[in-house]
Amino acid sequence: MVTGEVVGRETELAVLAEFLAAAEAWPRTLVLEGEAGAGKTTLWQTAIEDARVEFRVLATRPLETEAKLAFAGVGDLLDGVHDTFGGLQEPQAQALRAALLLESPAAGSVDERAVALGFLGVLRLLATEQPVLIAVDDLQWLDLPSARVLAFAGSRLGEVRAGFLIALRAEERWRLAFAPERILPACTQLPIGGLTFDAIHQLLRARLGLVLSRPALRLVHETAAGNPFFALELARAAAAKPTAHLPGETLHVPLTVRELVGARVAEQPVETRRALLTVAALADPRLDLVSAAIAGDAAATLDPAVVAEIVSVVGSRIRFTHPLLAAAAYEAAVPGERRKIHAALATLLGDREEQVRHLALATDGPDANVAAALDEAAALARARGAP
Ligand SMILES: Nc1ncnc2c1ncn2[C@@H]1O[C@H](COP(=O)(O)OP(=O)(O)OP(=O)(O)O)[C@@H](O)[C@H]1O
Ligand SMILES: [Mg+2]
Repeated sequence: MVTGEVVGRETELAVLAEFLAAAEAWPRTLVLEGEAGAGKTTLWQTAIEDARVEFRVLATRPLETEAKLAFAGVGDLLDGVHDTFGGLQEPQAQALRAALLLESPAAGSVDERAVALGFLGVLRLLATEQPVLIAVDDLQWLDLPSARVLAFAGSRLGEVRAGFLIALRAEERWRLAFAPERILPACTQLPIGGLTFDAIHQLLRARLGLVLSRPALRLVHETAAGNPFFALELARAAAAKPTAHLPGETLHVPLTVRELVGARVAEQPVETRRALLTVAALADPRLDLVSAAIAGDAAATLDPAVVAEIVSVVGSRIRFTHPLLAAAAYEAAVPGERRKIHAALATLLGDREEQVRHLALATDGPDANVAAALDEAAALARARGAP
């Protein structure tokens, strides 16, 4: 994500600061909930950066494509604390190692209950040293086994000084494996609504170097209903067509976020769009994999998209600057093109579960081979704890 200074949000930042300051009274939960692009991740990230000073932060930001990979979330949360496994009962440590693909499951399948107990055990151990902040962005995309582990641990913390900082998309609540306010301890909900007129003004100036006339700014603010992502996209589009923001005029740009980001992706060269589609299709997109899938140089092909701030490349890892852009890149492709990319990825990937997902997405009708492979993957995933 491209970040900068947080503008506005004085009330929300105060609630976050208060949540962190009350660690003595943990376990507690704070849920940031709002529509796509409202600014949840921005606040969530700011809070966890502040929290790192005094707390042990376990964080995960699942991608939509990851929702099917068993224990991906638990793996992220426990990244960097594997040394605590030694303090657990051996069966729990074993189950955790198996869930994180560090070793094969002892009895042929991962014991999800042992994973959950192990996870709770890790929280207890860590919390004896410093309060633990468990931070989950986009809870609606957390893989199901991880969600169950979180729910199990969350409802059995007792006096453990652990806090949950959750962000979730309001319109995708239906995807949740559990309602955080029902399961997690002492839950406070913090709705993330629109930014004020002044905050939108500051945002456009800081991020795009744009100073719009007051009427144009009012139009952007009203059209976006204060949604920062929507406002940034509207202003980008307006800036690209200078006549579109003459005072008093309506903006001659598409008026939904979907159309706006779709148009931004559509402006990319055809090869770049194909590379973007590949990136959007992957759970963990890396340059070498994308190069192999597109039979070209991914870094060079993606360069125009980096310039347009659609993706960023850090080391070999590629990330969309926003999940809404990933969705747009995926949706922009025609189904035949998507199937081709999934077919290419299915042959390239080592992870059997992910491989089979691509194989399934590479076909458009019932296929005996795929059905058999899916059965196999389902058995594999069950063995690792999926339902
Ligand atoms: N208070 C803020 N100050 C500065 N920039 C902001 C602020 N809020 C949001 N933004 C910017 O607006 C865009 C959308 O914000 P963000 O990614 O946090 O939204 P979100 O609610 O997490 O969206 P999604 O549900 O799609 O994940 C980002 O580019 C972010 O940097
Ligand atoms: Mg977000």
